[in-house]
Amino acid sequence: MNTLILNENQIDIAAKIIKNGGLVAMPTETVYGLAANALDGEAVSKIYAAKGRPSDNPLIVHVASVEDIYPLVTEFCDKAKKLIESFCPGPLTIVFPKSDVIPKEISGGLDTVAIRFPSNEIACKLIRAAGVPLAAPSANISGSPSPTACEHVKRDLFGKIDAIIDGGRCSVGVESTVITLANPEKPVLLRPGGITLEMLQSVIGNVEVDPAVLNPLAKTAKAASPGMKYKHYSPKAKVILVKGNDKAFYDFVNSQNKDDCAALCYDEDTEHITVPYVTYGSKSNYETQAKKLFTALRRIDDRGFKTVYGRCPETDGIGLAVYNRLIRAAGFEVIEL
Ligand code: TXA
Ligand code: MG
Repeated sequence: MNTLILNENQIDIAAKIIKNGGLVAMPTETVYGLAANALDGEAVSKIYAAKGRPSDNPLIVHVASVEDIYPLVTEFCDKAKKLIESFCPGPLTIVFPKSDVIPKEISGGLDTVAIRFPSNEIACKLIRAAGVPLAAPSANISGSPSPTACEHVKRDLFGKIDAIIDGGRCSVGVESTVITLANPEKPVLLRPGGITLEMLQSVIGNVEVDPAVLNPLAKTAKAASPGMKYKHYSPKAKVILVKGNDKAFYDFVNSQNKDDCAALCYDEDTEHITVPYVTYGSKSNYETQAKKLFTALRRIDDRGFKTVYGRCPETDGIGLAVYNRLIRAAGFEVIEL
């Protein structure tokens, strides 16, 4: 298949592809998404085929106005209303009880649907021009780091999808926060992201954190968010997280074999490190870490390292999202110094 590379002035071409049941990768403020008409089960099933995604991992439905949410859900509770007023459009996904218009290909057998109203202008224009809600997972091959630039999408999906709209680099850099309000009495954070746990709690009070956010899912447990049971974000190199202060980290990585290992570290660390390194943002600025993390993971593979020792990020604010992605990239392997 020939994949068209479009710019932001060619959204009408992309909208036509969507209306005809095709697949278009679009930029959002979090990561690039692989979009299809959410109301067309056959179009949606092409997403799973292109990504190699397991069919029981449900997709997020993207809308470009709050009113567009109503026909897709059966209950719109007060907490949903408050979260939407505070944080949408933006990097927040809310799980609702689903209505009958949601095809089974989207919900992966669940009776809920995840909905997001992105703030990216190009994504919103495409949703409006297509005239339908768009199902869109991250536009990567299943299991590889999420794409935060057009180049990443090309690398993973060129020849497998109809078009990619190049919208430059994504501003947030990690996928949206996912919260379930399927039971409005008990909101649960399923995936941390740009809208932090602290921000959610300041608007709706207590929010539980699903155990799978920080820990490996027990073999027998049922995932509240099916995406959490799959290996994710992994570069081909073996990633191991290292917890410890600056000096302990430098001593540890500098004593490793330079020939096949690297450090995944903060910008401020580089002058202290004698093995090869890739940086993922500033120690004191978690937003830069979120923005650079997936590019750093892809760079690790480009350079062919076998083992990578990653500095363990803090877990407050958007740091929790960075930690959640890195601990999965590391397959939960952590060395405490
Ligand atoms: O920022 C984002 O959310 C990006 C952009 C493209 O919008 N999309 C994205 O989609 O990250 P994806 O498919 O890579 O991740 C969706 C996550 C998965 O972990 C999935 O299991 C979960 O949301 N999810 C989707 N529907 C759900 C549902 N009904 N209940 C619980 N979890 C759900
Ligand atoms: Mg994904």
